Amino acid sequence: MTPEEITRTSTTYNLQSWSKQKGLNPIPVKGGEGIYFWDHSGKKYADMSSQLVNLNLGHGNRAIIDAIKDQAEKYCYISPSYGSEPRAELAKMLVELMPDNIGKVFFTNAGADANENAIKMARMYTGRYKVFSRYRSYHGSTFGAGNLTGEPRRYPLEPGIPGFVKFFDPYIYREPIEFASEEAASAYYVAKLREQVCYEGSDKVAAIVMETITGSNGIIIPPKGYLEGVRKICDDYGIMMICDEVMAGFGRTGKMFGFQNWNIKPDLVSFAKGVTCGYVQLGGVAVSKKIAAFFDDNVLSCGLTYSGHPLACAAGIACVKYYTEHKVLDNVNKVGKTLGEILEAMKKKHECVGDVRYIGLFAAVELVKNRKTKEPLVPYGKDPDGVMKGLVGKLAQKGFMTYSHENMILVAPPLIITEEQLREEMKKLDEVLGEVKA
Ligand SMILES: Cc1ncc(COP(=O)(O)O)c(C=O)c1O
Repeated sequence: MTPEEITRTSTTYNLQSWSKQKGLNPIPVKGGEGIYFWDHSGKKYADMSSQLVNLNLGHGNRAIIDAIKDQAEKYCYISPSYGSEPRAELAKMLVELMPDNIGKVFFTNAGADANENAIKMARMYTGRYKVFSRYRSYHGSTFGAGNLTGEPRRYPLEPGIPGFVKFFDPYIYREPIEFASEEAASAYYVAKLREQVCYEGSDKVAAIVMETITGSNGIIIPPKGYLEGVRKICDDYGIMMICDEVMAGFGRTGKMFGFQNWNIKPDLVSFAKGVTCGYVQLGGVAVSKKIAAFFDDNVLSCGLTYSGHPLACAAGIACVKYYTEHKVLDNVNKVGKTLGEILEAMKKKHECVGDVRYIGLFAAVELVKNRKTKEPLVPYGKDPDGVMKGLVGKLAQKGFMTYSHENMILVAPPLIITEEQLREEMKKLDEVLGEVKA
């Protein structure tokens, strides 16, 4: 197809996610290498969001491609009831990367069904039905994961599933209370959560589900002591702590898993995206040894035709090897430090920047009309004049590809980005922010 045919056929026959379909004009992509991809005219773009924060090792990674090819030559598919080397090996590698309380892995197709299965397992294990999750969150678009989700992408699924309860995130920037310290903020949010759990009937709550670090809803990083406080609530009432590591996992924050930045061990960990960097889709749930043992004598009522797909698991093994053998986390920590410095400088320079939040190579720039009142550049859940869309469009024209959410611009490049590449791209963001009228 010619590039024009690709775009025309795509808009004629494909329904595109999260969009009004009229007027869409997808860029026909021809190829990619490292942090860049290019269209048919040869225009090169820097992938500053790692696509959907999944392409952690960038485009065209030879080791991953070869691993998929090698596995395809052996067998492309085998039902989950058979023994499969790539599925067994990847599960073992993942358990070894996790804390010592984690025992087994159940593979899924992606992040949403990882969360679906995590809550199913927590409910079966505890015999309870209520599930807590946060307002500023995204956990996937299927019915269960969409009901866990707190942000407006939940609305089309309402009325919601009975027993799904929402609580507030530790979103200090937008909290009317001025806290003396991060610890004081944590004490407040944890106390409120404990109160809410008690009001809901603590013996009815199966799980508290959290993105360890809220991703697409604005890189909300838990203050010191917060996750430890939630862990304590879970321990006190026999509730399962589920960390959604779909976005924060696999090196994004400078640790293999986001929760490893704090002193906690979740009972269940859902993951996807960076496990295969999107080369083949894969997700999964890692569960504690206690939960794994429970299913020795109780039926694990979960199943998917493609659970542990051999090609996906082969890609996963190659990715995990690449993260460790190429010391990718060291790069995240080094380049991430520079990213933080650049973002702080932008906050000083541009009136429209209300806040910058970052950890590793996981960052958001929160834009405001007024720094004092913190009035967001666009109202919550809306962008009637296409302001954010316009900013992302200007960045794209300069070859800086990312996406926005609410009044925030996401910066999450592939974890292999060099310092030089980062500086070059961030200049483009600086220029575009300079044009925003606060
Ligand atoms: C934190 C988090 N959880 C779950 C999901 C859903 O993953 P998927 O789109 O692979 O179903 C996403 C997707 O962006 C996510 O960011």
